Amino acid sequence: MNIDLSGVLYAQLKEAERKYNDAKAKNELENVKKFAQLCANTEKQLAEKVPDQRKAHLDKAKLWEEIVRTARTAPRKVMVEKGGKGAEAEDDLSGFGDSLIEKSSVTWKDIGGLDEIKDLIQETIVIAGLTKPESVKPDKGILLFGPPGTGKTLLAAAAAGSLKATFFNVKVSSVLSKYFGESSKMITALYESARKHSPSIVFIDEFDSITMSRDGDQGEASRKVLSTLLAELDGFQDKKSDKLILTLAATNAPESLDDAVLSRFPKRIYIPLPDRKACQDIIRIQTKGLDISAIDFDKLAEMCVVNRYSGRDLQNVSKDAIRSMIHRSNAEIFDDIDKMAELSFEELKKRTLKVSALTMDDFIKSIAKVKSPLTTEKLASFEKWNKEYGAA
Ligand SMILES: Nc1ncnc2c1ncn2[C@@H]1O[C@H](COP(=O)(O)OP(=O)(O)OP(=O)(O)O)[C@@H](O)[C@H]1O
Ligand SMILES: [Mg+2]
Repeated sequence: MNIDLSGVLYAQLKEAERKYNDAKAKNELENVKKFAQLCANTEKQLAEKVPDQRKAHLDKAKLWEEIVRTARTAPRKVMVEKGGKGAEAEDDLSGFGDSLIEKSSVTWKDIGGLDEIKDLIQETIVIAGLTKPESVKPDKGILLFGPPGTGKTLLAAAAAGSLKATFFNVKVSSVLSKYFGESSKMITALYESARKHSPSIVFIDEFDSITMSRDGDQGEASRKVLSTLLAELDGFQDKKSDKLILTLAATNAPESLDDAVLSRFPKRIYIPLPDRKACQDIIRIQTKGLDISAIDFDKLAEMCVVNRYSGRDLQNVSKDAIRSMIHRSNAEIFDDIDKMAELSFEELKKRTLKVSALTMDDFIKSIAKVKSPLTTEKLASFEKWNKEYGAA
């Protein structure tokens, strides 16, 4: 007999969430982790028991696991002097924004294909930078959506690298989970830091997690984060501000975003899998400095498109092809690798690795190994969402 256990599991989840929130309020780190883990496990069980909600439960389990992984105690209160009125307790979040700063040396030239989106981001940045009449308002935020590994993070890094702007790289799941209920303050701290270090590119990855969970206190936390973020985006409409802060949000699950979010991101750009020309460009970028004269790029690009390769897959294929070439060209080293590995670093540095021309065979062998995780159905669902909601 099949017994429906989902009711029991939902009750268990509610109780675990209650205990989690209780522990969070008391700042009991161990219990926070314990009950967050219980929530994750229960969500996973629910994913099995309620098939039509499988993805939603698995997504929530992922978020809970991220909480377990990154939870830490709430920020300490520090005493700050305010205008001579004596010391006041205030959250020590000042370092948080700065801690998200990454160095980017990526430039537009490092990106193969995606010419239109590159133009669009460049145009947005240039208009934002120029002195202009009040009514000319550049976009404050652009949403990038598409399959994994297609260059969304790379685009944000290139925007920052080329502009020599400060690059803030933020994962929503870690903001939501860090410091428990303090997430919306983190967003404020992030944008304060972005204003301070302007020009800034704020890259918000896994943007869908922000609207993923709507129920319970966790939903409350993401709602608060979202409204703070949207307010920050609106804040930059400030006419007098000459600071450039461009927010690029990225997601692999655009269907999770609701109207409130979409309306703040009028520009929603599909970052698709690379076409033939882009495949060629990406492979050339990934094999820079090597002899590729023997490669039939038309044929290679055709194979990559048929295999539904993303830029990341192409990077893996290229890496593997290069590895084959290195093995082929340095048989004396690899035939005796145990002996070589015993040499000191100084000794190793005296020898040079030989390189030779890459061959089609190197690539064909790698292609046999690299499988795209994307199904045609998944791809079709991105195309469909793009038709309905995508907007440049
Ligand atoms: N258009 C491209 N040109 C050159 N390299 C690319 C391109 N797209 C992807 N790559 C390569 O794949 C790697 C992964 O790309 P990136 O991290 O930008 O993907 P993503 O779209 O952000 O993926 P995810 O959705 O999984 O975060 C890059 O570091 C780069 O080496
Ligand atoms: Mg990314």
